[in-house]
Amino acid sequence: MPFTFDQLRIPIIQAPMAGGPSTPALAAAAIRAGGMGSLGVAYLSGERIVQDIRQTRALCAGAAGPLNVNLFMFPPAFRVDDERAAAAEAALAPIAQRLGIAAPKLPGSAWHPPLAEQLDAIWSEQPELLSFHFGLPPPEAIQRAHDLGIAVAVTATSLHDARTIEAAGADCIVAQGIEAGGHRGEFEVSPAPPEGPSCIALVEAMRKDVRIPIVAAGGLMDGADIAGALAAGAAAAQLGTAFLLCPEAGTTASYRELLRLTARYQDRTVRFTRAFSGRWAQGVENGFMHSIDPTATALPFPAQNALSGAIRTAAAQQHDAEHQSCWSGRALHRIRELPAEQLMETLAAELARHR
Ligand SMILES: Cc1cc2nc3c(=O)[nH]c(=O)nc-3n(C[C@H](O)[C@H](O)[C@H](O)COP(=O)(O)O)c2cc1C
Repeated sequence: MPFTFDQLRIPIIQAPMAGGPSTPALAAAAIRAGGMGSLGVAYLSGERIVQDIRQTRALCAGAAGPLNVNLFMFPPAFRVDDERAAAAEAALAPIAQRLGIAAPKLPGSAWHPPLAEQLDAIWSEQPELLSFHFGLPPPEAIQRAHDLGIAVAVTATSLHDARTIEAAGADCIVAQGIEAGGHRGEFEVSPAPPEGPSCIALVEAMRKDVRIPIVAAGGLMDGADIAGALAAGAAAAQLGTAFLLCPEAGTTASYRELLRLTARYQDRTVRFTRAFSGRWAQGVENGFMHSIDPTATALPFPAQNALSGAIRTAAAQQHDAEHQSCWSGRALHRIRELPAEQLMETLAAELARHR
């Protein structure tokens, strides 16, 4: 039977978080607690995706809950002109020098793994939900997923995108509000930093207009927030930032420390930037965001992501949170540091009190 949200004991989805934070251990903990676990595998090869899905299932220890596997819809291949590439490389060179690594060069191709290879991994392992960020998957992918009994979700940040997703035959929409941490799933990258709408306003607007289930995402940190999202018409709530300090998450040590300090002292802003990847994404303001002027030097997504990769990796190894992408949502100040199953149980108990 294909997955539906009423199969969830707890209507909470641990968000897919590509680039490290969402791990098999984190997804399995969310599933064991009665929610949905997610793997953000956008940057992984087909082989690694198979491995991570199998490891998640093994860690579920017999619990038969649903797994969501999330991919990005990367744009078709494009060329960056030499002058622009040189300017983007030059902007990163001083950071590379400080980290003691070679100045980054834009790779000629292979900025991300091929979608066909990633989808083959999905068809072989068959998670309950296949979700996409940054646009619609090809119609054949939706059809194949349905033939295999896999439900399909796509992120929308506007009513317009939500209507497009429903018309394409997807099974549900992830309504991503302005509060959300990580990359914004808008179909077209807006020239200016995104300004709204809030998660709840987006769910309410979509509920009036689309018939398929809506998952609320953005700024949901406790049971009262989740109750509010369900009351607005969501079938489930997707939380990312709330899980970033769980021991099961792959958040690096220095990124964790920056999250803890920012949550406690609120001395840094959480804001959108295009400096890391070329697409708008929200995180804790740091040295990298200050050094790179995205309008002048950042390349379009995913070229900038490929170019900045070596810097982010070296910074993580050197415990330097100033040059990693420390993605976070705007409600970071309410983050709790608990093992994931305990966090899920706490959220469920709070939700029960607010329903
Ligand atoms: C570190 C991090 C990485 C993320 N990576 C992804 C991703 O790979 N795919 C995706 O669909 N959403 C991703 N998101 C967005 C989440 O799916 C979700 O929209 C967001 O976390 C909800 O807002 P919150 O962070 O305030 O809970 C990411 C969020 C964070 C915090």
